Order: sequence, then C-alpha cells, then structure tokens
Amino acid sequence: MLNIILFGKPGAGKGTQADYIKNYFDLVHISTGDLFRNNIKNETQMGLIAKSYMDEGKLVPDEVTIDMLKSEVINNSKANGFIFDGFPRTISQAEVLDIFLDSMKMNIRATISLDVEDFILEDRLIKRGKTSGRLDDQNINKIRNRFKEYNKKTLPLINYYKSLNKFYSISGTGTIDEIRDKLVNMINQLKLND
Ligand code: AP5
Ligand code: MG
Repeated sequence: MLNIILFGKPGAGKGTQADYIKNYFDLVHISTGDLFRNNIKNETQMGLIAKSYMDEGKLVPDEVTIDMLKSEVINNSKANGFIFDGFPRTISQAEVLDIFLDSMKMNIRATISLDVEDFILEDRLIKRGKTSGRLDDQNINKIRNRFKEYNKKTLPLINYYKSLNKFYSISGTGTIDEIRDKLVNMINQLKLND
C-alpha cells in the first residue's frame, strides 16, 4: 500500500497534482477541503459548521475534520493507497492519523511538499477566485489569513515528518506538467526503495 501526503500552502497545487497522481499510481485522493465543500453544497450540519471557518480562511476544528477523514479512509478500505491532500494540517491531526493508520495496518510512506512563494500563491488564488465561487479565494485578507493559519498550525508538521524521515520537498513553481513529472519520479524512487 502506498500512502502519500501532498503538503503545501494554499494554492501550492496539491489538488491539481493529486488529480493526476491518483490515476497514475491508482490511489484514492482524499481532499478534506473538497469534502467540506461537498458538505456545504449539500447543506449538511457539518457543512454549516465548516463554512463559518472556511469563509474566513480559518482551519475547521480538529474534532470535525478528523472524524470525516477517518470515515473516508474506512469507506475506501479496498484502495491500493491514498493521497492525502490538505490533511493533516495540525500536529494533533498528524498524531491521530498515525495511530489510526497503524490500527488499520497502514502507514504514511512520505509527505511531499510543493514549495511556492507567497506572491505567486496570491496571484493563483485571486485568479481562481474570479471563477471558482470560493469565497476564501476572493479577498486578499482571507488568503493571507489562510497563510497565517498555515504558518502557525501547519508549518510545525515539517519537523514532525522530518523527525520520522518521511519529509520530501520539490519546487511547486513551473508548469503543471514539470511539477507532475518531478512528483512521479520522486514517488517511483520511493517505491523502488521499498
Ligand atoms: P483546501 O481546499 O485544502 O484549500 P487550501 O489548502 O487552502 O488551498 P487550495 O486547495 O486552494 O490549494 P491547492 O494546493 O490544492 O492548489 P490547487 O491545485 O487548487 O482547504 C480549504 C479550507 O478548508 C481551509 O482553509 C480550512 O478552512 C478547511 N480545511 C481543509 N482541510 C482542513 C484540515 N485538515 N483541517 C482543518 N481545516 C481544513 O491550485 C490552486 C490554483 O493554482 C488553481 O487555480 C490551479 O489551477 C493553479 N495552479 C496549480 N498549479 C499551478 C502551476 N504549476 N502554475 C500555475 N498555476 C497553477
Ligand atoms: Mg486543494
């Protein structure tokens, strides 16, 4: 089983790359952001809670996010592996994920970060905000709030995965195809080393 975390700031290209990688390696892609947006669209109770945080660019509380993630993994228990996109985003999410995967005889093979500078990310997100309908993309202060949340709560995960020897990074700037090729090569290399 191959379980990869795609890591990076808002707009780094996690979703874009996961879309390709999931087919290439036959993995199930779990994006907690997409799951929340589906819940918002379907007007579920969870969607209502999540929306109040997401629209402000804040993280949704761990207790809501973790249960949702666990159900998604359990519902796909026949998968060859998972690409986690946008999860974990806090140390406690990472700790729970490790314990949970262990209980299912699974583990994380690697956390791969897509590194992109803030001004490029801001451009990408503002541009998408013009067509996506995502409220968190439409206002520079909300975008910067997402970066602040990342710096405060998500950045510490880099050391968490480094200490487990599971942290890798590549530049997330360049064309989508160039980044995709680097990612495929890196994952193939990881598989070879198994
Ligand atoms: P989430 O949906 O995860 O959003 P995000 O991480 O803020 O950022 P994006 O999904 O917008 O970026 P991405 O890295 O996927 O890039 P993408 O491929 O889309 O989370 C949204 C919210 O949900 C959070 O703020 C939080 O409230 C909540 N949430 C989610 N998970 C949570 C968790 N675990 N805990 C708590 N709360 C959680 O690309 C971005 C744009 O750039 C696109 O338009 C794309 O076309 C373009 N692009 C991509 N690559 C390139 C390239 N190489 N060159 C030019 N343009 C590019
Ligand atoms: Mg995304």
